[in-house]
Amino acid sequence: MPSIHDYFVPWLHGQKMYISNHLELAWKDQSLHRMMSNENPLPPSQHVIQAIERYGRLAHRYPDRGVEVRTKIARINGLDGPENVLLGNGSSEVFDMVFRSFVKPGDQVLQHTPCFGIYKLRCAALGGELVSVPMIREGDQLLFDADAIIDAINPKTRIVVVANPNNPTGNFMDKADILRIARTGIPFVVDEAYVEFAGLERSYAALTRDFPNVMVTRTLSKAYGLAGLRFGYLLGHRSVIDVIAATLLPWNVGTIPLWAALAALEDTDALEERIRFNNSQVEYIESALAAVPGLVTFHSHANYILFDGGPAGRKGSDMVDFAQSRGLIFRPISPMYGSEGFFRITLGTRDENRMAVAVVKEFFSA
Ligand SMILES: Cc1ncc(COP(=O)(O)O)c(C=O)c1O
Repeated sequence: MPSIHDYFVPWLHGQKMYISNHLELAWKDQSLHRMMSNENPLPPSQHVIQAIERYGRLAHRYPDRGVEVRTKIARINGLDGPENVLLGNGSSEVFDMVFRSFVKPGDQVLQHTPCFGIYKLRCAALGGELVSVPMIREGDQLLFDADAIIDAINPKTRIVVVANPNNPTGNFMDKADILRIARTGIPFVVDEAYVEFAGLERSYAALTRDFPNVMVTRTLSKAYGLAGLRFGYLLGHRSVIDVIAATLLPWNVGTIPLWAALAALEDTDALEERIRFNNSQVEYIESALAAVPGLVTFHSHANYILFDGGPAGRKGSDMVDFAQSRGLIFRPISPMYGSEGFFRITLGTRDENRMAVAVVKEFFSA
């Protein structure tokens, strides 16, 4: 009798379920301070809680296609209407739909590194090959390398994906470079998970009108502070959204997140408060740690900050262990650019940020 394992698609062999160990840890020990997953430290607003309660009472009902919330999203982003918007269970699911729409086994997806890990995972699940173009290190900056991205395009390339601003480096690609990639005609996904922190004027949603190959992903997990709700979306040309929508799992966004998202999108005061708080705290941490000898800070336009303690002869993994011994979860970053010193801190509450500053200073003064 053959084994069931002989029937799996070959590219799944050796692939493992993705487990966020830091999230497992944080939920298991809720006394720990979560400064590792680019969550928002502020809980949902009253308006969102009310929507969750109201629609919680209707959770026995299937959701509809979310035309109302999609219309609202289109309006916020200056697009025509719900036909430009596709909803996902977080933007991670949106990536899955986009990748399934373009990538078959052997095809390539182009990304920058360092960057968010989901692109690689969704590509691997389809038998695609992820090609990584390293960012360029220049002192306290890691810069996008659009020339290298464009040079790497070949007949197997099916998607170019750029996180803008990038995670974990926190910076934007230059507009001229975004346009150069758009003009290649290759499906180009601009991941704008954090763009609200810098302002929607930095968004490329409008580009989708003239460039059907440009698609923009967004999420309510970051500035809106609803990571646990799971709500993300794709903005694109109507003709493109139409095709990708064929991959959409019916009822992928539940009744509760659908209506809670609408409440969040309408609650502009809550969004403003979160953006203001975040940006003031980025400023606080960056300036509080600016004088630490040998600690390089990568200026961030998002809700996390990348550091390199390599010049001080320190390892990022030791920093993360030390912080955890003090009750704070930071994020280790794999060694790169000849340094083992990288780590990332997600902004927390005011108190948590003060604690983080104290812990980093203590570690680097030891
Ligand atoms: C660049 C980037 N894109 C997308 C996401 C995923 O967000 P979502 O919660 O919408 O799946 C993250 C999460 O950390 C991210 O850093």
